[in-house]
Amino acid sequence: MEYLPGGESLVGDAAEISAGTGALLELLAPAFPNITWTPTEYIPPQRVTSTDTQWARWGKIGRGAQDLTTIDAHLSHFPNCERALAFDLRSDPWPAPLRSLDLIICANLLHITPWICAERLFDGASRALRPGGQFILYGAFTVDGEFIGDSNKAFDKFCRSTRGFGLKELRDLERLAADVGLACTTPRAMPANNLLLRFVKAERGPLQKMLSWAGVEELVL
Ligand SMILES: C[S@@+](CC[C@H](N)C(=O)[O-])C[C@H]1O[C@@H](n2cnc3c(N)ncnc32)[C@H](O)[C@@H]1O
Repeated sequence: MEYLPGGESLVGDAAEISAGTGALLELLAPAFPNITWTPTEYIPPQRVTSTDTQWARWGKIGRGAQDLTTIDAHLSHFPNCERALAFDLRSDPWPAPLRSLDLIICANLLHITPWICAERLFDGASRALRPGGQFILYGAFTVDGEFIGDSNKAFDKFCRSTRGFGLKELRDLERLAADVGLACTTPRAMPANNLLLRFVKAERGPLQKMLSWAGVEELVL
């Protein structure tokens, strides 16, 4: 929780992209009660699956295999969680509930997806975030072409052989962020050789604020 500047007092609208079973939101929703969370998942989140399928497709299980159902079932008792949205990152534009947000979180996704998903994720995040909004990306990445630890090297090999894609390079992601106007902050080392990357959308300058008050979103000279 200390990784989100603003902590418990954070207020606003957030989405977790590809939330799996909602396991992360089970921690975040009660920890940030003033944030309204919308989970998304690639495969329609309403679908009830077996434990094996859930492990294979989503990678994580929420409260435990016994009461394994759907994201919504896991999160329904949190008043600040919306119903989950079915969402393929490659869709354009992003669905309406994902178009104006203060915070976007995405964990453990890019190593199993083609590069186009990284491009869409950064582009979509930049469009969706309100000025000053944050985009948090968590997972295993390479740094300057090197794996962080042997476990990540083995993990990359496993992902490539099973999924056809592998760990993405930090520099490439930072370049994507810069291209869409998201400022990079210093990556944080996390357990199990993961990194937490945080990108911030610039606040509006005084001129942009004036134009926005006047109802002008873009100034074409
Ligand atoms: C390893 S799971 C991680 C799930 C969850 N974020 C977690 O950390 O437990 C990878 C996720 O990426 C999702 N995914 C794969 N391709 C996707 C796509 N094209 N658009 C959106 N999500 C996708 C999968 O459905 C899956 O939930």
